[in-house]
Amino acid sequence: MSEIMIVRRLLPTLALLAQRVRANGCHDAAGKVITGLAQPEESFCTAGALGEETPTIELFRHKDPKTRGEAPYPFPPDRKYNTSGGPVSGKINVHLVPHTHDDTGWQVTVDQYFASEVFYVIDTVITTLAADPNRKFIYVETAFFARWWEQAPDEKRATATRLVQRRQLEFINGGWCMHDEASPLWTAMVDQTTRGHQFIFKHFGPEAAPKGTWQIDPFGHSNTQAWLLSAEAGMESLFWGRMDWQDRTMRYERKQGTNGFEWVWQGSRSLGSSAQTFAGNLFGRGAGGYSSWFSFEGSGAQVNDDPALFDYNVDQWVDKFVQNAREQASHTQDAEHQIWALGSDFQYQNADQPRSGIRVHADQWYRNLDKLIHYVNLNGSVNAFYSTPSLYVDQKKRWNGTYELRTDDIFPLADDSHNYWSGYFTSRPALKRQVRFATGVLASARQLEVVTQTTAKEVDRPSAKHAPVVGSSWTDSFEGTVGVATHHDGMSGTERQDVTDDYAMRISSSQKEVEAGIGLAVSKLLKLERGAVSHCHCHAADDCLNISVCAATTGKDAFTIAAWNPLAHSVSEVARIPVSGGRWSVTDGVGRAVPSQVVPLDERTKELPLLYLNSFGLSTRQVAEAKARLENKADHVLMVALESLPPVGLATFHAAADAESTVARAAPPPVDVAGEAAQAGEAAEAPAFAEAADTVVESDVFSLTFDGASGLLKSLTNKRSGATTALAISWGWYNSSVGEPRSECVFMCPDGTAGPIPVDTPWLPPVARHSDGRPMPNNWGKEVIAGHTWYTDSNGKEMVKRAGASLKDGEVEFMEPLNETMCGCNDIHAARRPSALAAGRKLQSGPAVFSFW
Ligand SMILES: *[C@@H]1O[C@H](CO)[C@@H](O)[C@H](O)[C@H]1NC(C)=O
Ligand SMILES: *[C@@H]1O[C@H](CO)[C@@H](O)[C@H](O)[C@H]1NC(C)=O
Ligand SMILES: *[C@@H]1O[C@H](CO)[C@@H](O)[C@H](O)[C@H]1NC(C)=O
Ligand SMILES: *[C@@H]1O[C@H](CO)[C@@H](O)[C@H](O)[C@H]1NC(C)=O
Ligand SMILES: *[C@@H]1O[C@H](CO)[C@@H](O)[C@H](O)[C@H]1NC(C)=O
Ligand SMILES: *[C@@H]1O[C@H](CO)[C@@H](O)[C@H](O)[C@H]1NC(C)=O
Repeated sequence: MSEIMIVRRLLPTLALLAQRVRANGCHDAAGKVITGLAQPEESFCTAGALGEETPTIELFRHKDPKTRGEAPYPFPPDRKYNTSGGPVSGKINVHLVPHTHDDTGWQVTVDQYFASEVFYVIDTVITTLAADPNRKFIYVETAFFARWWEQAPDEKRATATRLVQRRQLEFINGGWCMHDEASPLWTAMVDQTTRGHQFIFKHFGPEAAPKGTWQIDPFGHSNTQAWLLSAEAGMESLFWGRMDWQDRTMRYERKQGTNGFEWVWQGSRSLGSSAQTFAGNLFGRGAGGYSSWFSFEGSGAQVNDDPALFDYNVDQWVDKFVQNAREQASHTQDAEHQIWALGSDFQYQNADQPRSGIRVHADQWYRNLDKLIHYVNLNGSVNAFYSTPSLYVDQKKRWNGTYELRTDDIFPLADDSHNYWSGYFTSRPALKRQVRFATGVLASARQLEVVTQTTAKEVDRPSAKHAPVVGSSWTDSFEGTVGVATHHDGMSGTERQDVTDDYAMRISSSQKEVEAGIGLAVSKLLKLERGAVSHCHCHAADDCLNISVCAATTGKDAFTIAAWNPLAHSVSEVARIPVSGGRWSVTDGVGRAVPSQVVPLDERTKELPLLYLNSFGLSTRQVAEAKARLENKADHVLMVALESLPPVGLATFHAAADAESTVARAAPPPVDVAGEAAQAGEAAEAPAFAEAADTVVESDVFSLTFDGASGLLKSLTNKRSGATTALAISWGWYNSSVGEPRSECVFMCPDGTAGPIPVDTPWLPPVARHSDGRPMPNNWGKEVIAGHTWYTDSNGKEMVKRAGASLKDGEVEFMEPLNETMCGCNDIHAARRPSALAAGRKLQSGPAVFSFW
């Protein structure tokens, strides 16, 4: 049987894609991942293969050859398949949208993917499109397209340009990458999208501007994506591949007044109806949730329309097509038009796929699709044609009906109960931080560039080229490297470690050019000579502010800090600067004293630079030399209140060591926090701060009282109204599942239990104890729970309210249910008795009233 062949051929891919297969998997009709499938079954259902549906007709090939007569669908005598059709009113119209999904880094780096796979996807799709004017294709990731463009010969570029003009090749989304929607700040999303669009504009003009976003693979979708990156960015639609399974089931079954997977998304409370976008979850059940009912991978599942050959199957393909179209129509609000995304990760390449050994051809896809379109239209039950999301949305706009309006986001995304795409919210925090900081540096650099008219030629410090060039600025390379790292397998943290390292290295090396530019721009503003301004931004072990090492400020008696505020309003910040010596005073630009504080560096922080020491192959002497070189020359951190930095402006602060600083340098020994606490811990179970009095911290409006014994917030007073509220904070946790599925870099998979979090900090005893009083171990995987109702920001823009297991706008809010996982934290009294919880007591369910965990 041909199906067996498919299975065999797909197995190598599956092993490679294992991480995603589980996630993407094989979805049932409701979009829920079918768990517990054997590998061959998984491969079968991710392939979208022919045999999935039971035919509604008797197949020609099963009939008696002597009596079956002519084949049901005769091939065209000239062997030219008719694919010229378009929408037909009164029929189910199937918009066939060929696409590939190319991660700009995941299992291998962006350049490795390009060299081994994506070059061939783009190059051969262009040849295949040029062979037939009816064929269409959409392309998303401009970082890849730009790489192809740089390598393509002129004639191939001219072909691509013609295809774009004829709208056979359409850029959709058009970002430098397909960004993550959970971790980037909105500025990073705007920057990388803009960069991709600028490339398209530069080479193809304004007519080629993407009209829709196509965020098919990111793991959940934010309101900011809907209003800022879609509506406000001039894009009229937003499609994606996966949504929460409970949400999808509800819509599939048309419950709670829902109808299908498309709606109008109004993501901004401030902008309201002025920023709406047409949003849709692709119906596809295939790989990733963003491919459709069929794929032509490998050599198994081809459309065979020649009755002279064995395995004639075009009648079965048409039958499957018609069944699938009718099934989808029964779950689509405007049943007359439906979109089928055809393709998945790295598909449509005419090359041996080196990592999996299978061949996924552009020719193969189009030859099969040409036939399908021809025969399906010959059948006439439904109407099929090549299309794009833009053409599809044009048809949707003509529908005389009303779409549902939604204002909430698609977070967190769950494939099943206990199976959340939220592990990645915290994965690879160092890369997340690096991208966040780099985004801010980029914004400042661009402003300084414009304000001081500083050119790349003046900066004269070209980056090693890490990304295709879009503009001529000294920020161009940096923009490209930060942009590619906002990818949904980039700063999200779901990629391999070496790919993470690749992003970090790209950013770091391109940032050096930008720092040189910033240095020059700032020296121009301050009328200083070139080279007077230094950075300590962590491109070398001895110059890394985030481990309190800064060559420019240590071993000095005085230095000036220049602080640029890129925001449109004035801000106050605290700068932390490593210095030598314990007595410093700081003045602002006009000589007024500025509040500052000097804190000794602890031993642990001082040791951090030594982590850069690789002593392999070094002699003892060389090790000692390397240690001396790496050793932090700072012994204190100077904290300066940079008050009222002017909007989009520069302020300077002068720091000078006080006269007696040499004495001070030796004076206060670093505080051994860990050691003292360890002693305290040994001496008694009581916390180290047991004897201390309560601490009160206040502003003009609020006064907060922290418990002297536990250090935790105890009460809050509104000084204006005089009202005092008692508070108790404890942290909860979900115990991570250790079987399958289990929590990892992408997923959070609680095992169904939860409790207060065991804490093993030396200065605070464990919160959770067994019933006999022994502290619970702290080596279990866990997910911290921080509340029943809380608010999160959406990419640094508007806030979104989140509530556990409640009803919201008539819909279920999708979270791990409380009764099952949180040991009944709705019982406020029990929740405050850790010992009861530690003993695993289950409490009754009911409405949750407790708002801290
Ligand atoms: C091709 O198909 C379309 C409809 O799908 C039809 O309108 C057109 O007449 C056909 N052309 C030929 C040459 O058969
Ligand atoms: C079209 O396909 C459907 C599904 O296989 C079948 O029931 C119907 O008879 C076909 N119609 C024609 C005209 O071939
Ligand atoms: C749109 O639908 C409304 C209500 O169903 C109907 O009254 C109206 O005639 C329709 N308009 C068009 C152009 O079909
Ligand atoms: C410090 O920042 C650099 C780059 O910005 C990053 O690679 C490194 O991991 C960070 N170090 C720590 C300790 O966070
Ligand atoms: C948490 O998970 C660990 C590891 O599977 C298990 O040993 C432990 O019993 C679980 N704890 C609770 C409270 O369920
Ligand atoms: C929650 O409690 C209900 C009723 O006690 C029970 O049927 C259900 O299985 C529990 N878990 C979930 C996930 O709802």
